[in-house]
Formats: sequence, structure tokens, C-alpha cells
Amino acid sequence: MSTRYILALDQGTTSSRAIVFDQAGNIRAQAQKEFRQIFPRPGLVEHDAQELWSTQLGVAQEAITQAGLRAHDIAAIGITNQRETVVIWERQSGKPIHNAVVWQDRRTAGECDQLRAAGQEDLIQRKTGLIIDAYFSGTKVRWLLDHVPGARERAERGELAFGTVDSWLVYNLTGGECHITDATNASRTMLYNIHTGAWDDELLELLQVPRAILPEVRPSSEVYGETAEGLLGSRIKIAGIAGDQQAATFGQACLKRGMAKNTYGTGCFMLMNTAGEAVPSRNKLLTTVAWQLGGERTYALEGSVFVAGAVVQWLRDGLGIIRSSHEVEALASSVPDSGGVYLVPAFVGLGAPYWDSYARGSLLGMTRGTTKAHIARAALEAVAFQSAELLEAMQKDSGAALTELRVDGGASNNDLMMQFQADVLGVPVVRPRVTETTALGAAYLAGLAVGYWHSTEEIAAQWQEGQRFEPAMPEDERRRRLTTWKRAVERARGWED
Ligand code: G3P
Repeated sequence: MSTRYILALDQGTTSSRAIVFDQAGNIRAQAQKEFRQIFPRPGLVEHDAQELWSTQLGVAQEAITQAGLRAHDIAAIGITNQRETVVIWERQSGKPIHNAVVWQDRRTAGECDQLRAAGQEDLIQRKTGLIIDAYFSGTKVRWLLDHVPGARERAERGELAFGTVDSWLVYNLTGGECHITDATNASRTMLYNIHTGAWDDELLELLQVPRAILPEVRPSSEVYGETAEGLLGSRIKIAGIAGDQQAATFGQACLKRGMAKNTYGTGCFMLMNTAGEAVPSRNKLLTTVAWQLGGERTYALEGSVFVAGAVVQWLRDGLGIIRSSHEVEALASSVPDSGGVYLVPAFVGLGAPYWDSYARGSLLGMTRGTTKAHIARAALEAVAFQSAELLEAMQKDSGAALTELRVDGGASNNDLMMQFQADVLGVPVVRPRVTETTALGAAYLAGLAVGYWHSTEEIAAQWQEGQRFEPAMPEDERRRRLTTWKRAVERARGWED
């Protein structure tokens, strides 16, 4: 048999990517395309669902060609995606009824306030592991059904399909044959009971979402179907699905209880494996499904920060103080510190541990001597401070001190930031050799389902340390800076124009 490969499709918040992996978990080829971010009003974020699909298909074709391969060289496809983002489409035509409402979108903050005021917090946390917030899919689905003319009636008649981005991609890849999602994506909808592993009638009723619209929930690793004939050449098995943060946890081989990773993407997400136990958070973290293999669900505690890499994009596109994202490290390094400047990038409110939809970005501590370099440095530091707060909450929830944090995603390649991250965490930060762990995790899930890889032990053995950053900041300075950061956050909270 000729050498075969796994194709991972990584549909993120700002770009669609496709990566071809070999059996050693090395990258053979990759392609990436950014797509439009649509901001209809402040606080609202949408994507054109057709563009998500067309860019994803385009990069899949490109990666296969670039690797010098043909469809029959691909043993399976694994899919990973921006989570919580909602697409609703017509079953008959396959056309979306509205732009995708993106996870960052705050339009349902008011509905969430009402749910909280109605005392639904306990019920929702107990069943879904989630905090009531506009971040999750449930209130977005309801909003679409209530605001797109005729949508609710059509949904009830079974004419419409809802899916997170994984569902939308699989539906299109299979030529409309499969309307499915996996347990990790389902666990972010606020409609799925993470303990029973099923859509929950009480939650569907509460959020007024008709069952007829929902995808079937499947494990994260199994053969779900095949790509439609001709789409990528001959048919390819689709065999793995996981939300991007869960896929990264798998790709980082955080396969044992207590292991944790932090991914620096558009946002920043820290997940700690809690094995078969869905640990309820007492510190405003989320309890979520890490993956489901066969009938067995592994859970995680998650801290979600909404703006991480996006702050660098803002320095580039909003302020224009850098021309391309990678210039940020040089600019930030041109000053020894942030000169007392703190940037709280609460552009779409704050996620864990604050969950404040009404917080907004703030820049504090500027003096006449402040330069763009200080602002760039404060932006990078903000990502690290936010992660430090997640770790604090996670250690309290799990009752265990973390011995190291595995990191990945774009900004994990920024040495200045990773050193600062280790400094403010007071814990070593470890970057693996392959930092594309989100796509790698999806590839592993797909490869396991088709016997390309045989066990999670084999996967764990492939993980290799790239670089380790040891904390070097004196403890009193670490505490002082974290305290000032928290004061800055308080200034950003509850902002209303
Ligand atoms: O929950 C949102 C998350 O899945 C988005 O990930 O990589 O696009 O920041 P990313």
C-alpha cells in the first residue's frame, strides 16, 4: 500500500485552514485563507456561512495539491472548528437563512440577563456545565428563529437545520447526506446535557428551540460518512470531529487527568483534562466535553478568554501601529516594559472568570511618555494576565497545582510573550515541536477511527517538547502586577455608553 496521510480541516474564527499530516504527526502541506468579519453593529459579529464553506473547500483542495497527493492518498478527514457559532440553513436547498452568528456576538446579552433573573443559572450549569452567556449557541438559535421572518414555523415543520460550524461543513462535504455534530460541539450549545449525552427537552423548552432543527450527536472519532463524489476527487472518509479547543487538548496529548493546555488563537482557551468526571466549577469556569471515544466521554474544565490574538489584529487593523501581526514582537521588545500601561481587551465583553457582556476595552496608565511600543507590550501582557486568571480559577477548582502548562496556537511562537506568560503564571510554559495542535488533534481523532493510528498511547508518544520557558519574575513583582491588572479589569467592567 502507498503511504497515506490524514487531512485536517480547521475552520477558525478568522481563517479556514487545511493541513496534511503524516503518520509521525508531521505537517506535509498546509493552506490557509482569511475570510470576512462582518460587524453589523458594535458588539455584533457575523460570518457569511457560504464563505466559510467555500474557503474551507478551497484550502482543502489546495493542501492536497500542494502535498502532491490525490484524494485516494488521504486515509481520512478530521474536522475541527470555531465553536458555538450558529448556522441555520434550509434542508432542501442547503442555503443558510442568515449569516452565521459568531461566538463573539453579544446580541443576546439581554436574553441572558432575563434567564439569569428568572433563576435558571443552576439548572443550566448543572445540565450543561455552562454559565449563562451570549457566547453559547442556544440564545443565538432562538434569536435567529425569532428574527428571521417565518423561521420558527419552518423550523417546526422540519424544513430547517441548525448546526455549529462542524455540522455545516459535514453537511456540505457529504453533499447534504449527514446532519450531525459531535459531543464536544454539542456541549457548547446550552441545549445538550453533558451527563446523559443527549439534547435536553427541558433546555429546548426553556430556549424555545424545536427538536426538529437539531443535528444528531455522535462521538468525536468514528466514520460518519464520505465526501461527495468529485468534491475533492474520489470520496474520502470523514472520521473525526471536535471543537477546536478540545481538538487542541487532544493534539497536545493532554490525555491524562490534570494535564492542561492553553491555545492562543483569536481568543485564548485553557482546558484541563478531568477524565471521566464532569467537575462542576465553583470559580466560573466551564465544564465541558473534552472528547467522546466510543461511548466514553472525557471531560474538561475550561477557561475562555474572548480576545487574545484578536488584540494583535486590532493593533494592525484598528490602530495601524503594525503592518503585519508578526511585527508585534519586535515593537513590544523595543521597550523594557509596558511603562505602567494596561490594556484590557474587553472588545466583546469579558469571558472567564468575569462573564461580563457589558465590559469594554480600556487603556489605562498612559502618561506623556507612552508610545505605541508600550501599547503593543501591554496588549501582549494582557493575553498573559487573562490566562493567569484562568489558571488561578482552575487550580482552585481542581484542587491541584499545575506543574506545567502546554501552549499552542499562533501567539505561542512569540518568545517574549511566552516568557512573560511563565513569569505571571509562576509555572513553566512548554511549547511542543508541532504547534498546530488543533489541526493535529482533529487528525488524530480521524486517524484513530480508521486504524491509521491505533491507540491514545501511540499518540501520546508522538508529542515532543519544543521549548520550555521557566518563570523568572520575583514573586512579589508577580503579585503586584496581577493585582494592578485586576484593578484595570474593574475599570473596564459594566461599561455602557
Ligand atoms: O469558543 C470559540 C473558539 O472555539 C474559537 O477558537 O481558535 O478561533 O480562537 P479560535
